[in-house]
Amino acid sequence: MRRLFWAAVILAIIGGVAFYVLTMPRMIDAGELPRHTADVANGEYMFFAGGCASCHAAPASSKCDDPKSTDKRKLAGGRCLITPFGRFYVPNISPDRESGIGGWSDIQFVNAMVRGVSPSGSHYYPAFPYTSYQRMRYEDLLDLKAFMDTLPAVKSQVPGHDLALPFRLRRGLGLWKLLYLDGKQFSPSRGQDEKVARGAYLVEGPGHCGECHSPRDPLGGALSDARYSGAPNPEGKGYVPNITPHKTGIGAWSGEEIIDALETGLTPSFDSFGGTMVAVQENMAKLTAADRAAIAAYLKSLPAVASAPRKKEAAK
Ligand code: HEC
Ligand code: HEC
Repeated sequence: MRRLFWAAVILAIIGGVAFYVLTMPRMIDAGELPRHTADVANGEYMFFAGGCASCHAAPASSKCDDPKSTDKRKLAGGRCLITPFGRFYVPNISPDRESGIGGWSDIQFVNAMVRGVSPSGSHYYPAFPYTSYQRMRYEDLLDLKAFMDTLPAVKSQVPGHDLALPFRLRRGLGLWKLLYLDGKQFSPSRGQDEKVARGAYLVEGPGHCGECHSPRDPLGGALSDARYSGAPNPEGKGYVPNITPHKTGIGAWSGEEIIDALETGLTPSFDSFGGTMVAVQENMAKLTAADRAAIAAYLKSLPAVASAPRKKEAAK
């Protein structure tokens, strides 16, 4: 009996240590950042490419999931994201020192963006799409921070997330990250044409298109071989369409039509984008024509994947 007791105690300790080690936040060191003179204009460009205001600007009305905001330069937070895991409230990332991220160092910001780790060493939830932002070049991130430092500081009080019990514990996210956060920076595939590579960078990195357009497994990790083939809306009702060149996707769209849609918000069938794509498109319209063409070229180069059959209740 006593032996059994001690065996259980030892096992629990080993389990605890393993959990502790496996879930430890992994950070990059300040020394790994390049020497870089920040380019605020490129930072502003990355801010649009990255769609930060779509989540971090305060919602226009008292409905926390109102997709509109009145001022995209005021990053007071407070928007809610309604997901299968519960309700996330997006934090204030304005330069305010108390309620925002004023006073963060470059390395603290970069670790949030590419490792999903806070200055105090806790894990962020992947509702903050750092699984995509981890692909961003350090130079682009340093520029982005320099631009965000020029935005107005706003005070706000954002409620804590309202999540189901097992998801309330941030430490456990370390296990999720072992599965889904590879920590790799963007690198073009071998032989990839320069324009397609630029498109790939924008789509996979700052644009985080796959966060909405890729189906996920039950743990919320994107299914890599079905990437971009459409998915239930991660932020509420309905479906996000397939944007691969399959016939169930946008296979019938020409490259020009994709470019036009990103610029004007009008699809080849003269429909206009709706839902969460409206804000994405408004940001795409701010990019250069060359970058929209690069994005279209990359989407055209994706493997064609058929959309998964939709669940009835979700399609409504
Ligand atoms: C899809 C919505 C979404 C988008 C888009 C988004 N974020 Fe966030 N962000 C979140 C959520 C949700 C959190 C809170 C995560 C948590 O509490 O674990 C967060 C947290 C953060 C934090 C940590 C704040 C803190 O107080 O600890 C920073 C910094 C941040 N985001 C920066 C950005 C930047 C820069 C961009 C644009 C490149 C961006 N985010 C785009 C949803 C988003
Ligand atoms: C926040 C979620 C979200 C993100 C991020 C997002 N999209 Fe979308 N996208 C949508 C939704 C929702 C629709 C459907 C819009 C509608 O119903 O009008 C859509 C539609 C589209 C369409 C039209 C497809 C069709 O069949 O009508 C294209 C093309 C597209 N998105 C490209 C992109 C690209 C490129 C990116 C990255 C730069 C991107 N999207 C990022 C949510 C998103």
